[in-house]
Amino acid sequence: ARAAGKASSAFNFNEIEAGVDAKHHVADGYNADVLLRWGDAVLPGAPSFDPLKQSAEAQAKQFGYNNDYVGFIPLEGSSTHGLLVVNHEYTNPHLMFPGLVKIVDGKVSQNKLSKEQVDVEMAAHGGTIVEIRKQSGKWQVIADGKLNRRITSNTPMQITGPAAGHDRLKTAADPTGTRVFGTLNNCAGGVTPWGTYIMAEENFHGYFQGKLPEGHAEAANYKRYGVPEGSYEWGNFYDRFDLSKEPNEPNRFGWIVEVDAMDPTSRPKKRTALGRFKHEGAESIVAKSGKVVFYLGDDERFDYVYKFVTDGTFNPADRKANMDLLDKGTLYVAKFGEDGSMQWLPIVHGQGPLTEANGFKSQADVLIETRKAGDLLGATKMDRPEDIQPNGVNGKVYVMLTNNTKRKADQVNAANPRAENAFGHIIEITEKDGDFAATAGKWEVLLKCGDPSVAAVGATFSTETTKNGWFGMPDNCAVDSAGRLWVATDGNSPKGTGRTDGLWAVDTEGSARATSKLFFRVPVGAEMCGPLFTPDDETAFVAVQHPGDGGEDWAGHGRPSYYEDLSTRWPDFKPDMPTRPAVVAITKIGGGKIAV
Ligand code: FEO
Ligand code: CA
Ligand code: CA
Ligand code: CA
Repeated sequence: ARAAGKASSAFNFNEIEAGVDAKHHVADGYNADVLLRWGDAVLPGAPSFDPLKQSAEAQAKQFGYNNDYVGFIPLEGSSTHGLLVVNHEYTNPHLMFPGLVKIVDGKVSQNKLSKEQVDVEMAAHGGTIVEIRKQSGKWQVIADGKLNRRITSNTPMQITGPAAGHDRLKTAADPTGTRVFGTLNNCAGGVTPWGTYIMAEENFHGYFQGKLPEGHAEAANYKRYGVPEGSYEWGNFYDRFDLSKEPNEPNRFGWIVEVDAMDPTSRPKKRTALGRFKHEGAESIVAKSGKVVFYLGDDERFDYVYKFVTDGTFNPADRKANMDLLDKGTLYVAKFGEDGSMQWLPIVHGQGPLTEANGFKSQADVLIETRKAGDLLGATKMDRPEDIQPNGVNGKVYVMLTNNTKRKADQVNAANPRAENAFGHIIEITEKDGDFAATAGKWEVLLKCGDPSVAAVGATFSTETTKNGWFGMPDNCAVDSAGRLWVATDGNSPKGTGRTDGLWAVDTEGSARATSKLFFRVPVGAEMCGPLFTPDDETAFVAVQHPGDGGEDWAGHGRPSYYEDLSTRWPDFKPDMPTRPAVVAITKIGGGKIAV
């Protein structure tokens, strides 16, 4: 029986209460089991996690920090045996290393990181590929799986596509401009129709420090991307993160990275045809013509929504034939019309303003400075585009716009309708003739987020949505096999929305449209990442990122979180174990499809 009052909802479960505490919570009738924690062994020879004896060597064989995107690559078509692919977006040294934060006379300060700690951070970034299997209803990690792999900030990668080998990508360590070490800040991502793993490099600006030489040609480029921000200390030990020593290194990050998960010796490829920006993710779908369409967000206030359409077509009978599809195609940026129409504007050298007169000598220049190309084309400045999910069941595309408190009243437009947009919104795109590769379409706002009981917020959840069902700050999202939308959030907090982040089920069809229900919530301080449904819809994987971070007052705690004094020691709750980001597997007790 469906829950009372929700006759038209596509989701059948009893929602949980929104709130704040140190644990995770899932709807009644479901198990939410911790599957993989920071430090768990994923390669042969990995030592068991000892927070007091951390080393880069150990970390490179263990599950990394701050799990974000979660993908599942079935082995032989199975929904109970496959490869879990997980991005490790960033590190929180104050939560990772004992004694790093000092409190003297109530004043909080953080020591400088040692080289050893920086090396641990670098090994904790990147991604994990690990074989998993469901047995007797419970998922198990196969720690010695032959395809298991850790990718880190030092893994050799190849640069491919139109910008490969360009002078602006050359460094002392790589005079060819085609080989780069590692990947940074992989946020959301994707799995392609041919089963490769996509990592999206987001906030790469934070890893760079130092000053460009006076009058350097990259000054305007780096300014547009906020380089350097200097929130990491890697440049104290490695010249490539110091602009005064290696001025071209930032041009080698901010790309989409494709990994062949079926070959652990393969070299990951940075696919420059998909542009350089603060890539949130790259979810894809095969269009009618067989071309493959990737939807891409640039997560910055007033930045853009993109899509990439391959020149070639997907060959479902020959995996190898698809392996370089991402090197040739057209990148488009979105212009949302005030009348609900939209255009996808091609980002092609020589077309429109993308010429030498504007500083673009080639397509490589256009791609290295994709944001400038979007500026010149007059794309619509958005409220921080996060994950974008095509829905093959209803033919729509869902765009998460997380928030933008800097939008002023005279900067609102139909697609970004609220000034000081603290809670974000979700746009639904309908491509022309139902063709995902189309260059025009229509759009409407599915949902303005925030508390609907506060009129000034202007939220548009349906009246069936309860006090637990609304949320702010949509971020990652997923569409299950039934075509139902699930939204994960980043930024709900005790003071801000009186709730932690979580996973919400959002109706998109019929009279239930814009009804939302809370299915899972994270411990205090965490952000909800993932989410991902197995093809049989019987498991939802979610990623609990940075649990215990934030230091916001809850239950009278009122102090900043750091290693020794955490708001939560989730998920182990042991005095000698810090809080650990972890992937959680949600299954129905007794089996069956989720929320049916
Ligand atoms: Fe890493 Fe845009 O969230
Ligand atoms: Ca995100
Ligand atoms: Ca997604
Ligand atoms: Ca976010």
